[in-house]
Amino acid sequence: MEIKILGICGSPIKGGNVEVFLAEALKAAAEEHEVKAETITLAHKNIKDCIHCNWCVMKQTEDKLCAQGDDMVEIYPKILEADGFLFATPVYNLRLSGYLANFFDRWRCLVEARLFRGKAALKNKVAGALAVSWFRNQGPETALLSIYLNLIGMEIIPVGLPLGTGSPCGAVGLSSEGGTGVFKREVKLGVLKDEWGLESARLLGRRVIQMIKLVKAGQKVIEGKIK
Ligand SMILES: Cc1cc2nc3c(=O)[nH]c(=O)nc-3n(C[C@H](O)[C@H](O)[C@H](O)COP(=O)(O)O)c2cc1C
Repeated sequence: MEIKILGICGSPIKGGNVEVFLAEALKAAAEEHEVKAETITLAHKNIKDCIHCNWCVMKQTEDKLCAQGDDMVEIYPKILEADGFLFATPVYNLRLSGYLANFFDRWRCLVEARLFRGKAALKNKVAGALAVSWFRNQGPETALLSIYLNLIGMEIIPVGLPLGTGSPCGAVGLSSEGGTGVFKREVKLGVLKDEWGLESARLLGRRVIQMIKLVKAGQKVIEGKIK
């Protein structure tokens, strides 16, 4: 059973803390049997805002899902084909980044649009959330929750981590040493020093794959393919 997983990096910094944190989760996920992993970095992409023009509600076609002709054209099929996702954000003002929020806004045409209404195209896909913050107690969990709200609204199944291994809402990495907020010029990727956080990212990657396998097996039972 091939599993397709998409990692979405919502940081404006290419090769920054969020991207390497996400890479750790994806690497762990891809070590599982038959997993095909791909990363989409939102930084430097041409992804316009959803302007609520309702074009998708009235005029959407198979060839054109959204009125905005930008980099989302190539990304939409990948979203529809994926079995699961890992969404990673820097913590910005105790929530997800504007890049990632905007990206989720653009999913409207896969849910509430002419070809998709009532189709539940994203239902039962699985997702995990990751956040990197500078401070230990300045928003990592609220940022994870702000991702979760997008997922449940789209009927995507969110997974988190059990007690003592991360947050029930996902994986948290700290980019300053111990989350103290002390700046050290020589440290470029502080999250790589947060071994506890990195392990939570790996666990989350594996947990997403485990849940996808359960969902796929369950679907086969429902369809009567296995008893
Ligand atoms: C606009 C903005 C808002 C931020 N807000 C928070 C915050 O609320 N809490 C926090 O701990 N860090 C905050 N940070 C710091 C980033 O979350 C942190 O530096 C993170 O490692 C950035 O990841 P990156 O290296 O991938 O860009 C903020 C940074 C920016 C630019």
